[in-house]
Amino acid sequence: MMDKLIINGGRSLEGEVSISGAKNAALPILAATLLASEQVIIHNVPHLQDITTMMELIGGMGVSFIVDDKMTLEVNPKEVFGHIAPYDLVKTMRASILVLGPLLTKFGKAEVSLPGGCAIGSRPVDLHISGMRALGANINVENGYIYASAPNGLKGAEYTFDIISVTGTENLIMAAVLAQGVTQLNNAAKEPEVVDLANFLNTLGAKIKGAGTDTIIIEGVTDLKSGEYTVMPDRIEAGTFLIAASITSGHIKLKNTYAQSMTAILEKLEASGAGLNISHNDIEINCKQKRPKAVNIITSPYPAFPTDMQAQFMSLNAVAEGTSEIVETIFENRFMHVQELQRMGANIKLHGNTAVCTGVEKLTGAPVMATDLRASAGLVLAGLVADGETIVDRIYHIDRGYERIEEKLAQLGASIRRAN
Ligand code: EPZ
Repeated sequence: MMDKLIINGGRSLEGEVSISGAKNAALPILAATLLASEQVIIHNVPHLQDITTMMELIGGMGVSFIVDDKMTLEVNPKEVFGHIAPYDLVKTMRASILVLGPLLTKFGKAEVSLPGGCAIGSRPVDLHISGMRALGANINVENGYIYASAPNGLKGAEYTFDIISVTGTENLIMAAVLAQGVTQLNNAAKEPEVVDLANFLNTLGAKIKGAGTDTIIIEGVTDLKSGEYTVMPDRIEAGTFLIAASITSGHIKLKNTYAQSMTAILEKLEASGAGLNISHNDIEINCKQKRPKAVNIITSPYPAFPTDMQAQFMSLNAVAEGTSEIVETIFENRFMHVQELQRMGANIKLHGNTAVCTGVEKLTGAPVMATDLRASAGLVLAGLVADGETIVDRIYHIDRGYERIEEKLAQLGASIRRAN
């Protein structure tokens, strides 16, 4: 059934919330366990639908798990027999493409369904495929599947990404880890989640240098040993909760964060007038009795402002003082939340990949439709401040990327509940 979130707006959020492990670090790290020859232990794995899907996907290939109540995973990849990522799983989670590199380099073959597009764009995987070919893989794409083989293993090579791709970079790092010889990736993604994957793999004995820069060098090794690793905090969940405090003129403290991974987000929040206090792994934000000021946003690859925070900042700008421009440069169709915000009274005009937003004093609650993961987060944020009741439908989108979002928001004082 279609779960809904029912929100009554107008309450300022107060209190403390603990941020979960990063979905977009845990997903490649889980895929990377296919590369290991021995059991590995991973801490701080977020409890999310996408994580469950990835566990089902590699579980179907023979990986086994022991999960404890704190979502520490003991992963045993010693009995891997399969190399197929079937359409019925891949179509629910595009990040399934991340098994291509590990399967190819470790087992010499992979059949991975082409991930469809999704609401935010066509989401091609041509760079993943051309990168694997550069490492010597034979790949053909037919009847919706990527048929890949490397009977003699992969060979290190130099590869330059035409476009900066986060999972493209991650897939090629994983493929190169067990390739013969040295691989150099140019124009690589610098996201913190790429660094987290590289750190995880190096813990198991990989030889990866330069993660976090645009040039990554991987010296192939023969196998990966056991190891233990803790996934980094989710910078997008953290950013979402910081905006929840700002949009409700509240005062909250986030625990288990990693502020250095979210500098662009914090700078924009300060520009909007938020008071921030960062100490160790905590970020405190105080926006009591303040209305946010409008802030211009241009999404770009890391370390610039992340596209995954665009919808959330759009909701903040919708009630901010002044006019702002939000430019989405990464995905071709990531403004679906705009028409829903307009139904709540937002004054936003779209011109191609630019949204011009004139802040209004008040939004009004309305039934709205979630279309993709971060758009649905933006709608929840708008509901927190809107007058009256907002019903966000199709929230299976939000469950993919946020752990118990209504529980965490309710404990901060929001009036929010799940219904079906
Ligand atoms: C990752 O997706 C994230 N997902 C996305 O988060 C995030 O929005 C995106 O990076 C950008 O930061 C995961 O990490 C699991 P890209 P990814 O490859 O890797 C084009 C969320 O909300 N491109 O960096 O799929 C592509 O069309 C999700 O958690 C090609 O043309 O994104 C896009 O325009 C949503 N060919 C641009 O590159 C390719 O082969 C960046 O995409 C690959 C990508």
